[in-house]
Amino acid sequence: MHDFHFKKAELYCEDVKISDVVRKVGTPCYIYSHKTLIDHFTKIQKAFAPVSPLICFAMKSNDNMAVVKSLLNEGAGLDIVSIGELKKALMVKADPRQIVFASVGKTEEEIRFALRAGILFFNVESVPELEFINRIAKDMRKKAQVALRINPDVEAATHDFITTGTLKNKFGIDLASTRAILKQRKKYPYIEIKGLHIHIGSQIVTSAPFINAVKKMIEFIESLKKESIEITHLDIGGGLGIIYKDEKPQTAQDFANAVLPYLEKTGLKIIMEPGRFIVGNAGIFVTKVLYLKDNGFKKFLIVDGGMNDLIRPSLYNAYHEIVPVKETHAKRVKVDVVGPICESGDFLGKDRMLPALKQGDLLAVMSAGAYGYVMSSNYNVRGRGPEVLVKGKQFAIVKERETFEHLIEGERIPAFI
Ligand code: LLP
Repeated sequence: MHDFHFKKAELYCEDVKISDVVRKVGTPCYIYSHKTLIDHFTKIQKAFAPVSPLICFAMKSNDNMAVVKSLLNEGAGLDIVSIGELKKALMVKADPRQIVFASVGKTEEEIRFALRAGILFFNVESVPELEFINRIAKDMRKKAQVALRINPDVEAATHDFITTGTLKNKFGIDLASTRAILKQRKKYPYIEIKGLHIHIGSQIVTSAPFINAVKKMIEFIESLKKESIEITHLDIGGGLGIIYKDEKPQTAQDFANAVLPYLEKTGLKIIMEPGRFIVGNAGIFVTKVLYLKDNGFKKFLIVDGGMNDLIRPSLYNAYHEIVPVKETHAKRVKVDVVGPICESGDFLGKDRMLPALKQGDLLAVMSAGAYGYVMSSNYNVRGRGPEVLVKGKQFAIVKERETFEHLIEGERIPAFI
């Protein structure tokens, strides 16, 4: 499942000892396994081979250019959400014809840049956006290729903050409005509406919501055909769940088995946008114990990585397994693993049974490859630690630790104070 494992009581990433990486780069840091990344990508590729989908890695889950490049080398496309992601993608030579651009709030600058780059699809989320893209494309004498993002109104059974496919959410266009847009598509002469797009949420561990949404889309596309509206591409989004604790998520193959019978007979070109499934378990966050504290009521392990480095526990109450980098058989005690930040919400794990540890010991926070580094901040003027990529026996820093100079760059004291 992933390539982080213990050998002689030491945690390794592939053939590299985590403690060796830390000796070189310090803590806190993120460490990614190249092999795990590629294995997960390949799993989706193989499972869906009968429809040879374009697998657009959701860059928002991990936009490190070495990670992105590794996946491009395997034939991945990219799902992007900003001009920043697009620029990074182009820097690592992504083929614009394999890039889809979703975002409820694309700006003029972003639309112009993406049109100039020649991306595959704008995944459009509203009528005003469609009108805006049409106007810009006219001005640039270009034709924009569009997939309409549908809100299929299906429950995804995941955390409220990461459910996107119900009408309570800001995403996508409802089916009736989509039909109306398509009937009046001549109103948008600089736009070619070729595809439909759905993304119903993230960390979804059952296949029912996916099947429901895909079925709904296929029926909808069939009904459009009867009105002579031809759709050639169906983008089924991302959202495949992974194991953080004891989830039993569907495998890529389970997912494929469930939806392929519907997809295969449509002849549609299929696009997918997995993020977490590919990179989630391919990364860990490593932090060092600074202090032990026992207030008589609770025990705390105060570590040097905080909510600014990995916000998922604080933001979603997300569970990440925490393991000592050196296995010990010391008696286990119940502790809260907390960061140094001035907020009670700054924790990495609560009520964890961990072997008694001492100052300087290392902890690995598992499954931190997706929505880890990308959601980090400089809160409390804390520089981000480095990102490291491991491949076999080799490892390299793929993003350097931020220095104080990085943190104050651009700050000014105006003359009037
Ligand atoms: N496509 C679209 C349009 C999306 O909005 C997303 C994720 C994906 C694909 C990729 O979804 P994935 O395969 O990674 O589930 N920060 C949250 C997750 C937010 C997901 C946002 N959209 C977390 O840490 O759980």
